[in-house]
This record gives sequence, structure tokens and C-alpha cells, in this order.
Amino acid sequence: MRGLVAGNWKMNGDTAGALQMAVAVREAAPALACDLLICPPATLLHTLANALVGTTVAVGGQDCHANAKGAHTGDISAAMLHDAGAGWVILGHSERRADHGETDALVRAKTVTATSAGLSAIVCVGETESQRVAGEQIAVVGAQLAGSLQDGFEGVIAYEPVWAIGTGRTPTEADVAAMHAFIRGQLTQRFGAAGSAMRILYGGSVKPSNAAALLNLPEVGGALVGGASLQAADFLAIASAVRG
Ligand code: 13P
Repeated sequence: MRGLVAGNWKMNGDTAGALQMAVAVREAAPALACDLLICPPATLLHTLANALVGTTVAVGGQDCHANAKGAHTGDISAAMLHDAGAGWVILGHSERRADHGETDALVRAKTVTATSAGLSAIVCVGETESQRVAGEQIAVVGAQLAGSLQDGFEGVIAYEPVWAIGTGRTPTEADVAAMHAFIRGQLTQRFGAAGSAMRILYGGSVKPSNAAALLNLPEVGGALVGGASLQAADFLAIASAVRG
């Protein structure tokens, strides 16, 4: 399966920056051995999606509400993301779990809603630093997978150790490979052939200097990139590290 390099802009970016990024990725995408996805803030989705019409570069949201519509001031539905040009949505990011108290059950409800609206979901899992120190990472990620994915799930998983996000620190290659092998086993056990074909992204301080080592490990199907996705040169250098 072709790799996927996805940029999560989090609460960063503006119209001018989005248009600059569109120009850069439009030129670079055809020569890459992976697919590209950019998840800007919701305010920029429509602009970015329009600027990328006719390219293979996809755009996605960073969250959606669990309900299809209704009285939820300030929230955004999956259908609204789709209407703005998104084909994807990130769900259960650790910053959503921490800042907004999102539980596995809520993430699962969101994946159901997102799928019904025609979006592909990237569901994030990953242990905190204290859980890693306590040796609980397998149990934690196993529980997150079991609780956050609905039966028949067909999206993408992103393994993002919380302690590696925005810190410049990453797990060892052996630790990433071990966790991705565990996740693959869980997906195959639960979803059969579909589970053995699902992409499993690594996220957490991916940058041009470590991308080749991390992204070509077994069972690593691409990256979910935060800070380094804000500059086109860095984002594209990471994507270039994915071998075909
Ligand atoms: P950084 O790449 O900035 O560590 O962020 C990773 C992340 O949270 C992507 O979703």
C-alpha cells in the first residue's frame, strides 16, 4: 500500500500560508512515492481544498462532532467538513483527548459519524510518558484501539506517543517497530484482511532528519506530522523520505 504523509497544522496557519503551501505541494506531489494529506484549521479547509483541485493532495479536518447536526454551538459536523472539501478527518488526537476530555467511546462515536458523512478517519492512539515509564504502553494502546474503533472500521491508525509530540524526542526505531507490529496484530485479529491492509502512521517529532529512519520501518505506513508540516520544504522533505 502507498504510504501517506499527513500534516496536522493544529491551531496554526492563515490564508496566505495555505495558498503558498498549495503551490508547493501541487508541484511536488506527482514525483512523490506517497500520498499527501493536509489537515489545516477548519477555517482554511475550503480555501486549501479549492487551491488543490486537480491535484492528488487531499485535505482533512482535525476533529468533528459525534452528532450529525444540531444545537452544538461552536462545533463542526463531519458533513460540514465534507462540504468544505475535506475527504479526511483526524479523530482522537491526544490534544483533543487531553484538552477536551475525549474518551475512547466518544472517539468511536465520531468515527461512525465521520464514516457516514463520507470521510476517512485517522484515529490517533498513544501512551503518555508516565505510562511508557511504567511499561504500560501496549496495554494502553490496546485499550484505545479496542475502544475507539467501531466494527467495520476502514480508516487509518496513527500511533503518536504523547511524550514525543512537539518535544523533539522520538521512541527508538525498535520501539516504533514493536508498537506498530502490535497494532497490526490487533487490527488483523479484529478486522481480518481489512486489518492487515490498514495504514498505520507514526506521529511525534517527525522531521526531515529522522523521517527516512522512522518511515521505512516495517508496518510504518507513513507519518502524521505536526510542527514540521507548517513549512512546505520540511513537509516535502519528510514525504520524499518515503520509499515506494
Ligand atoms: P509534532 O510533529 O509537532 O511532534 O506533532 C505530532 C502530532 O501531534 C501530529 O498530529
